[in-house]
Amino acid sequence: MEKKRVICVVGTRPEAIKMAPVVMALADDASFDVRILATGQHAAMLDQVLDFFGLSADRNLSIMKERQSLDHITSSVLTGAGQYFDDTQPAAVLVHGDTSTTFAAGLAAFYRGIPVGHVEAGLRSGNMRLPFPEEMNRVLVDKIITWGFAPTKLAADNLIKDGIPESAVSITGNTVIDALFYTISKRTVPECSELSALPENARFLLVTAHRRESWGKPLEGICEALTEILNAHPDIWMVIPMHKNPAVREIIRKHLQGHARVILCDPLDYPDFIWAMNASEFILSDSGGVQEEASAIKKPVLILRDVTERPEAVEHGSGILVGVNKEKILSAALRLLGSPEAIEAVRKKCEEQPFGDGTASVRIVKTLKESLLGR
Ligand code: UD1
Ligand code: UDP
Repeated sequence: MEKKRVICVVGTRPEAIKMAPVVMALADDASFDVRILATGQHAAMLDQVLDFFGLSADRNLSIMKERQSLDHITSSVLTGAGQYFDDTQPAAVLVHGDTSTTFAAGLAAFYRGIPVGHVEAGLRSGNMRLPFPEEMNRVLVDKIITWGFAPTKLAADNLIKDGIPESAVSITGNTVIDALFYTISKRTVPECSELSALPENARFLLVTAHRRESWGKPLEGICEALTEILNAHPDIWMVIPMHKNPAVREIIRKHLQGHARVILCDPLDYPDFIWAMNASEFILSDSGGVQEEASAIKKPVLILRDVTERPEAVEHGSGILVGVNKEKILSAALRLLGSPEAIEAVRKKCEEQPFGDGTASVRIVKTLKESLLGR
């Protein structure tokens, strides 16, 4: 019997992390011919993830430019993905999440009448500009999908409220939990040299920030809060793996480079980053994926955003929404640092796993099989 060709599209670091388990599950099933289309919206940060999972792109559009515009990403992915779909004639295309790769590749598939599966569908902040442009990407792509793989019940409800037929929606859990469990089973000891600069048993905070809407003033405020936290706690270190974006790096470096207790480094390998999440006192981050992972490992994360499309993390107790206001970040961080009981209370509260049990990719493959092969 002819295998069904499924193309998994990835462009950025989190798409690769969260699509990797789906690619591996499809590859394990003899009914499918799975291919990876990398748009190369990210270059080094995408390759780093694919390398760790032992995956390589069947085609890389290599579109990334320094300080690229949204127009550039959208137009070059639309054209490049369209060409690849014409060449390969897939039975289905899977896109992930809410990046410009997601939207443009989904649109290219739609123009050709190819069914689109959306992994991590249905997240909504309710504000079209927060996060920007992700909320728009996810809303628009969900208008054209054949399968909406919702990570949670709330996400599934959002899809149905938006008019997606119930029959197209399934609750799968988030594939990031599959990726996390897989990674923990492979490596638990950090390998990168930057982390060896941490003194043994050092108490440290892990920090990441990259969102487009935070470039400029909000990120300056975040960095000022970080400096004040370091000043208030002379025993505390910070590990800050910097996103490759120069607009982000310039600001972080301006405020924190040269500080004796700050490790400013390149993006960590996924397993090293998970090690750092686990070993930290707590995390400060504006990342979507980190909110989900932190809940799975029961680690508090101060969410550096005004709204989150992952309210499950906040209800669960691991996520604490602090926004980008310097004073708010500072007071939340000092409260946690001043009270180990507050951190322990978060751990105790985190019973349920809101983002799934690590088998999301199996559920996604099952749905595709039923739909494409009638079993
Ligand atoms: C993108 C996504 C965002 C996602 C994030 C994950 C869009 C519009 N944004 O944001 O949803 O949360 O990825 O990290 O889709 N760069 C490099 N090397 C790399 C990667 C990036 O040099 O490997 C630099 C380039 O100068 C690039 C810039 O970072 O122009 C910004 O990358 P871009 O993908 O446009 O935006 P992100 O902020 O990474
Ligand atoms: N991550 C990583 N190395 C790092 C920082 C983050 O592997 O140095 C992982 C992290 O565990 C999570 C994902 O990258 O799975 C989040 O990516 P990012 O913050 O870039 O994007 P977002 O989740 O906000 O879309």
